[in-house]
Amino acid sequence: MRASGALMVAAALIVQVSACGARGTARDNAVEPTGPNTVAPKSELSLRDYMVHVLQHNALELWDWTSHEIDETGHKVTAPQDEQEWEEAESAALTVVELLTPLYSMSVGRDDAAWSAGLEKVRAAANEAAAAALAQDYEAFVTASDKVDMACVSCHYVFAPQIEDPALKNFYMGKQQ
Ligand code: HEC
Repeated sequence: MRASGALMVAAALIVQVSACGARGTARDNAVEPTGPNTVAPKSELSLRDYMVHVLQHNALELWDWTSHEIDETGHKVTAPQDEQEWEEAESAALTVVELLTPLYSMSVGRDDAAWSAGLEKVRAAANEAAAAALAQDYEAFVTASDKVDMACVSCHYVFAPQIEDPALKNFYMGKQQ
C-alpha cells in the first residue's frame, strides 16, 4: 500500500515536471486562488497509534534533553550544551504543544470536559518547558518536563487506567494541582 502510494506520487511528479517542460514557462503552472478551501483532511490514526507514534514519539524528544545517564565516569546529564541544542529543546517542547491540538477534536478525542482539561495540563507544562528552554534555565526546564510526564500519566489514570500501574495512582494524581 505505502510503496504503491509513493510510486504514484513519484509518477505524478514526473508527469508534472514533463508537463512543465512541455509548456515552457513556470507562469503557465502557477497556482491561482480559486475560492474557498474544500479539503479537510482528518487523521486516519487510532487514538492509540496517535499516542504511540506521534505524541509519545515527540515527547521522548523533549525528555531526551532531561535524561540522566550513569556511566563509568560518574553522573552524566544530557542537558542542552549550546545555543543550537537549547533551540532544539525548545522546538521539542513546542512540538508537543502543537501535537495536542488534534486531540481536542472529537474524531480522535473524547467528548468530555475532563479530556480537554487533561490536554490543557500537558499544554501548560510543555509551554513552560519551551519558555525555560528559551531562557536556558535547565532546572526550570527539567521541572516543566517532569510536569509534562505527570500530566500525560494523570490523564491516563482517568481515561485509560489499564495502561498505568494502579499502585502509582496516588503518586501521580496527588501531584496534580
Ligand atoms: C486527554 C487525555 C490524555 C493525555 C493528556 C495523554 N494521553 Fe496518552 N492516552 C490516552 C488514552 C485514552 C489512551 C488509550 C488509547 C487506546 O488504547 O485506545 C492513551 C494511550 C497512550 C499510550 C499507549 C500506551 C499503551 O500501552 O497502550 C501512550 C504511549 C501514550 N498515551 C502516551 C502519552 C504521552 C507521552 C502523553 C503526554 C505527552 C499523553 N499520552 C497524554 C489519553 C491521554
